[in-house]
Amino acid sequence: MSEWKRYTITAALPYANGPVHIGHLAGCYLPADIYVRYLRARRRDVVFICGSDEHGVPITITARREGVTPQQVVDKYHRIMGDAFAEFGISFSIYSRTSSQTHKETAQGFFKKLYDEGKFIEQETEQYYDEEVKQFLADRYIQGTCPVCGNENAYGDQCENCGSSLSPTDLIHPHSMLSGSKPVLKKTKNWFLPLDKLQPQIAGYLEQHKDWKINVYGQCKSWLESGDGLQPRSMTRDLDWGVPVPVPGAEGKVLYVWFDAPIGYISATKDLLPHTWETYWKDKDTRLIHFIGKDNIVFHCIIFPAMLMDHGEFILADNVPANEFLNLEGQKLSTSRNWAVWLHEYLEEFKDKQDELRYVLTSIAPETKDSEFTWKDYQTRVNSELVGIFGNLVNRVLVLTDKYFDNQVPEARECGELKTFTTDQKNKITDALENFRFREGLSELINLARHGNQLLSEKEPWKTIKDNREYTGATLYDCLQIIANLAILCEPFLPFTSKKIFDMLNLDPASLSWEDAGRQDLLKPGHKLGQAALLYQKIEEEQIEKQVEKLHSQSPQTPKGGLNTKTMENKEPSSDTAPGSALKPLSPEIVFDDFARIDLRAGTILSAEKVEKADKLLKLTVDLGFEVRTIVSGIAEHFKPEDLIGIQVSVVANLAPRKLRGIESKGMILLAEDTVGRLHFVSPKDLTENGSIIK
Ligand code: 2FM
Ligand code: ZN
Repeated sequence: MSEWKRYTITAALPYANGPVHIGHLAGCYLPADIYVRYLRARRRDVVFICGSDEHGVPITITARREGVTPQQVVDKYHRIMGDAFAEFGISFSIYSRTSSQTHKETAQGFFKKLYDEGKFIEQETEQYYDEEVKQFLADRYIQGTCPVCGNENAYGDQCENCGSSLSPTDLIHPHSMLSGSKPVLKKTKNWFLPLDKLQPQIAGYLEQHKDWKINVYGQCKSWLESGDGLQPRSMTRDLDWGVPVPVPGAEGKVLYVWFDAPIGYISATKDLLPHTWETYWKDKDTRLIHFIGKDNIVFHCIIFPAMLMDHGEFILADNVPANEFLNLEGQKLSTSRNWAVWLHEYLEEFKDKQDELRYVLTSIAPETKDSEFTWKDYQTRVNSELVGIFGNLVNRVLVLTDKYFDNQVPEARECGELKTFTTDQKNKITDALENFRFREGLSELINLARHGNQLLSEKEPWKTIKDNREYTGATLYDCLQIIANLAILCEPFLPFTSKKIFDMLNLDPASLSWEDAGRQDLLKPGHKLGQAALLYQKIEEEQIEKQVEKLHSQSPQTPKGGLNTKTMENKEPSSDTAPGSALKPLSPEIVFDDFARIDLRAGTILSAEKVEKADKLLKLTVDLGFEVRTIVSGIAEHFKPEDLIGIQVSVVANLAPRKLRGIESKGMILLAEDTVGRLHFVSPKDLTENGSIIK
């Protein structure tokens, strides 16, 4: 790491439209904080940048729902989020916001430079417009019937029932969510970043970073290689909430939120260091790292670098260690369903137990795949690892030292073996942290504490004190050195614990750095220790039962059956779009005649192929006995075309035909969606004649 002069570490700017939950912490803020604390412990020059993302459609939707202005929404949540991060020890150098004046000027200046240099393409497109409220409609403001599954409440960018990625013009019977009226298509001019032209540069950039996490590198590659590759992307929007577009003829338009938000990292650095911010963004000896969740990969690895390349003055990210998602008690975390553990509420039940949560979330961090938080697992990990191993070691050693040696560090004894073990552990933790493997680093930390406990059990100082005071003193000396090492090495992960241990050892944390870890003389013989106190307490059964009950009672249990369909077209991802996983409530009752109008038939799939430029769609030919039909179905992410040939399925045979991506689809295939979002065909149990009526 020595080649880097300084570090600019960013953590994704969260949308200021809801409080922070454990998924946010585990996915992005905790790993970023651990890394930054580690760098600081190595006395590196580092800035840790974050703030609220206060623009974008989700905020205007929240404002509408709550009957307040967008500014009121962001003011409220900016404070709540900032407080929660601070309470959990997320040690940002600055927690800024994108509604600030500095940000407005920085984002506008950035746009203006690209505009003046002719980097944008001006293009007229047709977009839906609400004539009653006289406003162009963002995709999320248009609802209609999904052309794939018939869900009447599909959005202009996505159907949350079948997971299909949509364009507003795909919707059948579209209506504006602002007035309910039928929107009309109207011409509008916007400014596009020609990502297609930048593709070779982006590809070259990625080639230099084959060392990135597989999930990150792979996702970027598939963006570059799928279909026709990168396409021009509009950097402006017809919206009244955001940074106004600073060029002539752009009245009523704002910067696309994904154009302005990453520039927020730069403006926050300006606010933090008005005179020296440029070295953190322009000097090639600065290492820029973005910590994000997986839904932000394309924006940080392709679009933002493309913007920076076009601008020309800035460094590009050297790494983007994105995490996958955290689930909670078997379901996807969801703000709208209130299926979450909110940070500000956690502390109401678990006062001063920030490190317990930091510990568990780091142990199960979704580093390589989605992972799962359950309250039972939280209890087990806290009780067996923090209380049983870490806390137990510290408590026993300090109590025994007080009892036998008047709370002073006893005389030393040469112990090369222990020094080697501690140094090895330090090196393992260092290597894990350097490579963003935080789970592994934490587990090696616990192994060091475990070793201290083994030493105690083997040497039994409570027995040896009777006839060998010197030997007992040497044992406790060794254990005290392990504890002092733990205080240094646990700081990135468990900063509150670290501080408590330093206090108990009567040591000044500022006097020791990461380089000191591994030493066996951190505490000198005769050094007076501080007051011992319990580091952790057991989590009781009732406490976690209460949490599980609370979770179930606060959630309306109406998960969306949608699949995770975040794509480049999903402009402002909410945190709610991955698989819902509990059973949906029943739809309103119907009478028999309603059902009888549906003509269900058995049919056999004869052929299946992908629909060009539509990730989700398969074109099927289905033999219904009386005719062979073409049916377009939104199942491409679930089945391989070649696996479908010969399967007998149930078909809604009298559904009016409709065109999907230019293909006429006649009918719909029935599918069962399970609680984790997998699809299964609803087929006649025994092969039956094609065309048979299903009733
Ligand atoms: O996904 C989100 O919550 C976005 N607000 C992240 C923005 S990161 C950056 F670009 F600012
Ligand atoms: Zn649908």
